Amino acid sequence: MRVVLETQAVTKTYQGGSGLINAVDAVALSVHEGEFVALVGPSGSGKTTMLAMLAALLKPTAGAILIDGQDLSTMSEAQRTAFRREKIGFTFQANNLVPFLTALENVELMLRLNGKLDKASQARARDLLARLGLGDRLHNLPRQLSGGQQQRVAIARALIHNPQVVLADEPTASLDTERAFQAVETFAALIHEQRRAGIMVTHDLRMVPYADTVIQMLDGKVSSVLTSRADIAALAGTGRGDRPPTRDITSEARPVNPLRTPELAAALNVV
Ligand SMILES: Nc1ncnc2c1ncn2[C@@H]1O[C@H](COP(=O)(O)OP(=O)(O)OP(=O)(O)O)[C@@H](O)[C@H]1O
Ligand SMILES: [Mg+2]
Repeated sequence: MRVVLETQAVTKTYQGGSGLINAVDAVALSVHEGEFVALVGPSGSGKTTMLAMLAALLKPTAGAILIDGQDLSTMSEAQRTAFRREKIGFTFQANNLVPFLTALENVELMLRLNGKLDKASQARARDLLARLGLGDRLHNLPRQLSGGQQQRVAIARALIHNPQVVLADEPTASLDTERAFQAVETFAALIHEQRRAGIMVTHDLRMVPYADTVIQMLDGKVSSVLTSRADIAALAGTGRGDRPPTRDITSEARPVNPLRTPELAAALNVV
């Protein structure tokens, strides 16, 4: 299978209170087409920093990131922006929906930016939102949606333009259990069906059985890579090697968590 995304000793160093800290420390990983990776690890282990570098929103201090064989570090800022818009879909810890656009328009925005808004793609946007349980909320503004509904709009927006790489930072943080399972299941299904490379950061280990690979981070480094169903199931605590069953949607969603890094929020406004 073709490698879509690859990092070579990628490192991000920050000035911390007591000297330099490597938020991401010489990480090498690769993701193939059709592969769904769950990125897990304790708070502060470097997951968001890693994802922001993969999304070409943050420059590594050292090392290389290759997407589709192209080295992000050799691109100009303008090239990186164009590359990100076309090839990468992402949703971060806050969803950054455009407040004056409806749910459907927020999703269509990605198509419009890429010059790909036509009847067929508009139908796909509606279908995708319906698949995420928002078929009756297409024309609502973000403020008329619950936090969890907004988060699902952001998931649809990350996927709609068929990006080769899909990155999601805790996309289920403000969803209740049933909706979280449903969203991750849809996310995984689309990555598999469309042969994308997907990485999802999650704190919720119950979600990892949907992933093909689980990468655990600790102190900026990869501490383990799990690919066997049994190992992944053991991590999830299910004790079984199969994926969780499809769930019904029953209860309402909780509000979205605040974004932790203001720089990311600022960077996301370019989208
Ligand atoms: N802009 C910054 N300046 C200085 N240090 C930073 C900055 N951003 C992140 N860090 C530090 O880098 C480390 C990794 O942070 P990161 O946000 O990547 O962690 P994370 O694994 O996503 O955590 P969480 O699970 O809490 O979201 C932490 O020690 C954090 O304090
Ligand atoms: Mg984080």
